Amino acid sequence: MIESTIILKQLQKHAEEDVVSFHIPGHKNGKAFEKFENKYFCKEMLALDVTEMPDTDNLYLAKDMIREAQERAAKVFHADKTFFLINGTSAGNISAMMAVLNPQETVIVPRDCHKSVSHGLIIGGNQPVYINPETNKEWGIPAGIRSETIEKAILENPEAKAVLLTYPNYYGICSDIKEIAEIVHKYEKILIVDEAHGSHFILSDNLPISAIQAGADIVSQSIHKTLPAFTQSSMLHVNSDRIDVERLKFMLMINQSSSPSYLLMASLDIATTIIEEDGLGLIDRLLENISYFESKLQNIKGIRYMDDSIAGKDGIYQKDRTKLVINFVELGIGGIELSHLLRNDYGIQMEFADINNVVGVASICNDRKDFDRLISALEDISLNNVQGKIKNVVSSFSYDIPKLKISPREAAFATKKEIPFLESVGKVSGEYIIPYPPGIPLVCPGEEITKEILEYVKHLQNLGGDIIGTKDENLEVIRVID
Ligand SMILES: Cc1ncc(COP(=O)(O)O)c(C=O)c1O
Repeated sequence: MIESTIILKQLQKHAEEDVVSFHIPGHKNGKAFEKFENKYFCKEMLALDVTEMPDTDNLYLAKDMIREAQERAAKVFHADKTFFLINGTSAGNISAMMAVLNPQETVIVPRDCHKSVSHGLIIGGNQPVYINPETNKEWGIPAGIRSETIEKAILENPEAKAVLLTYPNYYGICSDIKEIAEIVHKYEKILIVDEAHGSHFILSDNLPISAIQAGADIVSQSIHKTLPAFTQSSMLHVNSDRIDVERLKFMLMINQSSSPSYLLMASLDIATTIIEEDGLGLIDRLLENISYFESKLQNIKGIRYMDDSIAGKDGIYQKDRTKLVINFVELGIGGIELSHLLRNDYGIQMEFADINNVVGVASICNDRKDFDRLISALEDISLNNVQGKIKNVVSSFSYDIPKLKISPREAAFATKKEIPFLESVGKVSGEYIIPYPPGIPLVCPGEEITKEILEYVKHLQNLGGDIIGTKDENLEVIRVID
């Protein structure tokens, strides 16, 4: 396989030439690490950790191997143009926003967007129009965004230049992105998609459609999350002439390191090779293993598993089957407790847990044995755990988005002071208040705290729900902006 990789092959050639380095990095082809070397931190790999030289191209002026690798990735991901990201999808989201929006311009964003999107608003100085995703009460989670919600937001805010969509969400929930793309383009807006958790969609018709294929203009993907690439390695795909590519390149330089890691770039190129050469077979095997896993769960008492039947409700168009969402609430075992049990007693690390559920991320690199381990752990937990005490805590989530008094950028830089939360009505919040679940902000920095918010927080605290985002986790005091 190394023969068909572009970057790894060239880096290996460079390493084997035994070049004396008066170049950075300071470890000089890994020499500095000799006495720390072991089977994990091995000298062969360290010798590939180089920077820009005549034979290694330049990410920001790609002409040779990096250009070739990015072009091949664009073909594989069906994009017009692909950029390798070495600062994750975080840098991709911020750069995409800065490429599309001028300071002060408005963008429609989901209320439960990733923090990199909030950072993009701060850095770019943009005005958000937040839209709420639906919530799914059965699982206590944020669900899809209805196409009507997006159309309404566009009609009410005709000055908005773009819509940003998270697709899928952390639970694998997908909105009807094709219809959303049509609506966004009907009103001549630009669709930016944060597809951090969906880079594998390209691999199968039995998975939700990829954002690029659905018609999005610009899409960030964390290749490292759901495909085989090193942490921080992402891609940004452009698929429309609505995006000024030269401006985007400039924004990528602003938001990323000027010393991009070649190991990360090589891993993106290897991921592309794996997809190109073996992707279809690997995804078929994964989906078969997931079907096998689902069939075994039928016999486990007390378990709930989120399958495709969730689609069709709460703005949910499809569910990504590779996200394994499980709970044992019926047995009184909460998500966080289940996650600890799996890790501590069975050596299984899931991706994350909320009060009710655990979520596992399965990839083409999981094999049947991994699923068997998870199945037998779940069987064991079901058989051995006496009725626990956790009750299904599901937030009712029926609050309005408060008024934005100052922009996210002004709020980020403003001086904040602490006051008792009970005296904060009418003040501008300097913090997020996020009920968890479902993890959708009640208040964002720059928004006005209302009496309803105060009452809602009290109600949630009485129910035993958690509030996150505030410095004081009990929310007796809150930081506000004068
Ligand atoms: C929805 C979403 N978007 C963006 C990101 C940022 O991705 P990265 O870790 O590649 O910077 C994450 C990371 O968790 C995410 O969950």
